[in-house]
Amino acid sequence: MTNKNTTTLPLFKAFESDKLSLINRTVMAPMTRGFSPAGVPGEDVAAYYRRRAENGVGLIVTEGTGINHPSSVSGASIPVFYGEESLNGWAQVVKEVHKVGGKIVPQLWHVGMTRKKGDLPNQEALPVGPSGLELSGEKVTEPMTEDEVADIVAAFGQAAADAKRIGFDGIEIHGAHGYLIDQFLFKDTNQRTDRYGGDIVGRTRFAVEIIEACRREVGPDFPIIFRYSQWKMSDYKAKLAKTPNELESLLQPLVEAGVDIFHCSTRRFWEPEFEGSDLNLAGWTKKLTGKPVISVGSVGLDGEFTSFASAKKTSLDGLTEKLANDEFDLVAIGRSLLMDPEWVKKVRDNREDDLLPFNKEALQTLY
Ligand code: PHB
Repeated sequence: MTNKNTTTLPLFKAFESDKLSLINRTVMAPMTRGFSPAGVPGEDVAAYYRRRAENGVGLIVTEGTGINHPSSVSGASIPVFYGEESLNGWAQVVKEVHKVGGKIVPQLWHVGMTRKKGDLPNQEALPVGPSGLELSGEKVTEPMTEDEVADIVAAFGQAAADAKRIGFDGIEIHGAHGYLIDQFLFKDTNQRTDRYGGDIVGRTRFAVEIIEACRREVGPDFPIIFRYSQWKMSDYKAKLAKTPNELESLLQPLVEAGVDIFHCSTRRFWEPEFEGSDLNLAGWTKKLTGKPVISVGSVGLDGEFTSFASAKKTSLDGLTEKLANDEFDLVAIGRSLLMDPEWVKKVRDNREDDLLPFNKEALQTLY
């Protein structure tokens, strides 16, 4: 075995936790594609995920898929997770991925106030959020009523039940990036004075109710992954928690509600989260909760999140070192895996020189 191969070895150790076993530490990061006309994932979507699974990805997290609420997504080609046709499409995705020995969880999503009035599908459906505020502070709609909260909580629960019924290996709840659940977590967008607002613990209540509803539906043994981030799509500098103590206050209620694995979204996995320690957000989350964690952020690339033009391939040394030190358990790979469906296999087989060069034009095919 060569030296080089030895350094990527931590990525290829099996992962065992009480509810989930994976062949290695690689996770396909959720990435919105908009290739599901009328919200229905078709054969091409199943083939896209199968291609990553058959090339050695340990766990696939699907692109965000809308729960059963009229304003859960923005865009007619974003897949949804309700209705017979969409769920049949997803069942086919699961079947194809399982055929080649892969594992897959859907990312359950509501975009909240990032939806613009008039967006497809359901152009008449208004955006909803804890206080009706966009991140800019602009008030666009009325704050969600308690009935609306209850409906959305129930819709997440139903989606979790459906995920289990059609054969998925778990679920991921999208609580990151400034979308609905994160809008409740974040003080700038949650100015409620009822039990869904207030201090950091009050602001977790919506997430807690969603996690509890999902847990009730799927039972004790089905993995629930919760994705969260400090940053928002329209504010990379935003912070939910400025100190480890604040982070602990935020995470503890989520653990108690039933989260099994945290997926900690950062734009660059190598950046320390708080002063005085090299730990990134995933590292801190593991330390504070004792739960397994997924790290993510420009793995294999030197460019920015959402930057496709400038990103270049980089060495995996820093990543595998953090993994070997147990700072985190799993590593999600986004753009690299979008670009090259064989990314995991090539890295595993020490064929890094064969990785497809990152380029925007080739990405258009998204095959
Ligand atoms: C996107 O469509 O660019 C997008 C969607 C969901 C995310 C992040 C980015 O969490």
